[in-house]
Amino acid sequence: MGTRIEGIGIYLPERVLTNLDLEKMVDTSDEWITTRTGIKERRIAQNESVVDMAVKASERAIENAGIDKGEIEAVILATLTPQLGFPATACLVQERLRLPPTAMSFDISAACSGFLYGLDIADAYLKSGKKKTVLVIGAEKLSSIIDWKDRSTCVLFGDGAGAVVVRYDENSESDILSSKLYTKGSAWPILYREPCGYLKMEGRKVFKEAVNGMAEASLEALKSAGLSAKDIDLVIPHQANFRIIKALAEKLSIPFEKVYVNVNRYGNTSAASIPIALYEALKEGKIKRGDLLLLTAMGGGLTWGSTILRF
Ligand code: COA
Repeated sequence: MGTRIEGIGIYLPERVLTNLDLEKMVDTSDEWITTRTGIKERRIAQNESVVDMAVKASERAIENAGIDKGEIEAVILATLTPQLGFPATACLVQERLRLPPTAMSFDISAACSGFLYGLDIADAYLKSGKKKTVLVIGAEKLSSIIDWKDRSTCVLFGDGAGAVVVRYDENSESDILSSKLYTKGSAWPILYREPCGYLKMEGRKVFKEAVNGMAEASLEALKSAGLSAKDIDLVIPHQANFRIIKALAEKLSIPFEKVYVNVNRYGNTSAASIPIALYEALKEGKIKRGDLLLLTAMGGGLTWGSTILRF
């Protein structure tokens, strides 16, 4: 009995930007992008704002959960591309969803780890008994903060949103079994954005931090749940780079068929990446109720962490 993902929904913009399209924009090649990152294409928002994407994903998650939206007591939205300086993007989503004032709404700024941070906060609310139903959203319009002339970053990112409705259910075996989240503020200069500026990154350093951080957090989360890597049915890693995901699986000695990958189709959608991957894995029949999932992410901050849940 515990915290259960009751419903899930995603939104991806229709416009596809392929590596071949990028070849016409910067000095790069499909071959370079594919071998270094595994990315073939990504989605780019046209007229959609980050709020539009978050609202669509949320509506789908609420419908999928089969709940009345008036039951939602908190909206926790993770993004590094908020719509405004303030108020929080979550407030704009709360308005568009026409949720009552009892649905307190706020953003979290934890970059690509934001969805896991949000899930952890929701889990704490649910387990404390303070709330029964929480909406957790990861939504990003990264195309708006990318320097489309910088080949070292523009090939990596994409837009999209994912949302989950989480509830406390005492009659279900579903639960968040452990969650280990970390921050290393001293490493912020390797991945950041100045106000109104572009995303800046030292790729090689981020690569190493990502593999080591996600592997260590995963081992800690497994230990805390009294499990080993062999018990995990599916790993849903943050989709940043195919090579990072492969190195992570090797470090954890988890066979690659137990690792979900869709970075080839969407690139890195930051806080939206885990809920989008979770949704697609579910749709493809790779997850069923009762499965043990390992979610793990790393992002600007640096922030990182791993969550083990029984779906
Ligand atoms: N197309 C072609 N060449 C490119 C390129 C591109 N899009 N981007 C960089 N290059 C060039 C560099 O200029 C460099 O050329 P040089 O050797 O003449 O100086 C060469 O490719 C190697 O660059 P480097 O940055 O060392 O490559 P890399 O093997 O580290 O791969 C990343 C670069 C970005 C793919 C890789 O470091 C990475 O994925 N890092 C993690 C990024 C990430 O996931 N960030 C988000 C975390 S949430």
